[in-house]
This record gives sequence, structure tokens and C-alpha cells, in this order.
Amino acid sequence: MRKIIIGISVLLIMTGCMQDGQEETYEASTSKGVESGMKSKEQIEIKEKEKVTEDGKVIVHNPHAIDVVVNKERRLPEGYEPKNLIEPNVPFRAPEGHQKRNMREEAAQALEELFQAAENSGYTLVAQSGYRSVERQASIYNNNIATKGQEWTDQYSAAPGHSEHNTGLAMDITIPLEAGGFLGLEEALGDTEPGQWVAENAHKYGFVIRYPEGKSDITGYNYEPWHLRYFGKELATKIYESGLTVEEYFGYVN
Ligand code: DAL
Ligand code: ZN
Repeated sequence: MRKIIIGISVLLIMTGCMQDGQEETYEASTSKGVESGMKSKEQIEIKEKEKVTEDGKVIVHNPHAIDVVVNKERRLPEGYEPKNLIEPNVPFRAPEGHQKRNMREEAAQALEELFQAAENSGYTLVAQSGYRSVERQASIYNNNIATKGQEWTDQYSAAPGHSEHNTGLAMDITIPLEAGGFLGLEEALGDTEPGQWVAENAHKYGFVIRYPEGKSDITGYNYEPWHLRYFGKELATKIYESGLTVEEYFGYVN
């Protein structure tokens, strides 16, 4: 049904755009009638460059790009490693020297700005988990299947090569609790004042909440108010203002 609706909307939008003599827009497809951010020509060129594996997964064409999109259907190429990983100068809930304290340099600098802005508004944010090698993601993913089961894992944990944490562009964040310790990576973060501040302001510093509430049928994952993904200020603001998920914005909806 979804495919039919998308197909009809593509047809209508392409027809409409061609009548206006404007560039066609690829796969505009939400009930709000908001268009995808991708132009059809651009999207077709990308599809031509992307390889599809035997199990039907797409190998992304741009693993080093800031706007790379990985998800359940799209993965990084074998042997991919991000360049320029550094540790942002922010409070951490992670052992010193651990790889998960790292992010790509541009994202790390933006995280520092975001955390400083939160502090200026009276909220302390704490970084918990950033970069993960594909090997480490495999170990986390397999451990999740063994201890929490496949169903839970499918909702919260990406397979190796399919995680934004593998790109160095994601950081899971938390907050300190008054009683001591930290909030876990829990949905409750989204109901706290700092969590709400992040949801409303992260885009100004280049981040989006990648897995919004109520969108798991599109993103493939449950609501994760803690998982911030860096896209740069301009693109993050466009995504935020569109009200779309990343999948919808880029036209990667199945
Ligand atoms: N929790 C997100 C989906 C990941 O494992 O990358
Ligand atoms: Zn995460």
C-alpha cells in the first residue's frame, strides 16, 4: 500500500513539476505533503553508483561523506574506516582512551559547541558512546542477540557496517542525575528538560535526533532521543525544519 501511495505521489509531483518547468523532485511522500530534499536527477545518479549485495543490501556510494546514510538496507563498504577521529572536549561517561570517545573531527567540534550551548542554557550533557569500529559493532550486535534476543536487537541495535556509530558521525548522550550517576540510554531522556532542549536546538549545531518517536516503521529503529547524528548545520536544519525522517528526506523509503 505504502509503495502505491509513494508511486502515486511521485507521479503527481513529477507531473506537477514538469508542468511548472522546474526540476523534478524525487519521491515526495509524507501525509504532510512535504517533499523529499533530493532532486530526482541526483537520486538516479546515486542509485546508478550504488552496488547491491546478494542479500539485497545497498553499499553506500559515499562512505566518507558527511551526508552518508546508513540504515538496515544500506551499509558501509568492507574495510571502511572513518578519517580524522578525535575526542571532543566534553564530559564523558566512558573510560578514558576508549575508542567510543571519538568522533570525526568536524562532528567532534560541533558536539563541543552543542554541549557548551546546553551548558549556557543551564543543562549539562554527557557523551556516552560515539565511534565504534565495525568489529566492535559486530561484537555489540551479537552480544545483544545472545542476551536480549533478536526482537529487541532489531529494534535498537544495528548490524555491523549498518551503524551510524561506524561512521564517527553519531554520539549517544545522557545527563547526570541529581541523586548521582547518569540516566541510562532511555526514552525518558526525551521527557527531561535537557532532552527537550536538545530536541529543539541540536540542529543549530549540526545534529539531528536520528530515530524520532513514532517513526520506527520508516527508520527501522525505536525512538532513541539519545542518538545524535551529525549532518552539519545547514543540512541538519533543513532536515529538522522538514519534519521528515532522514530516510524520507533523502528518499530512501522502501
Ligand atoms: N542504536 C543504533 C541503531 C545503532 O546501533 O547504530
Ligand atoms: Zn546511538
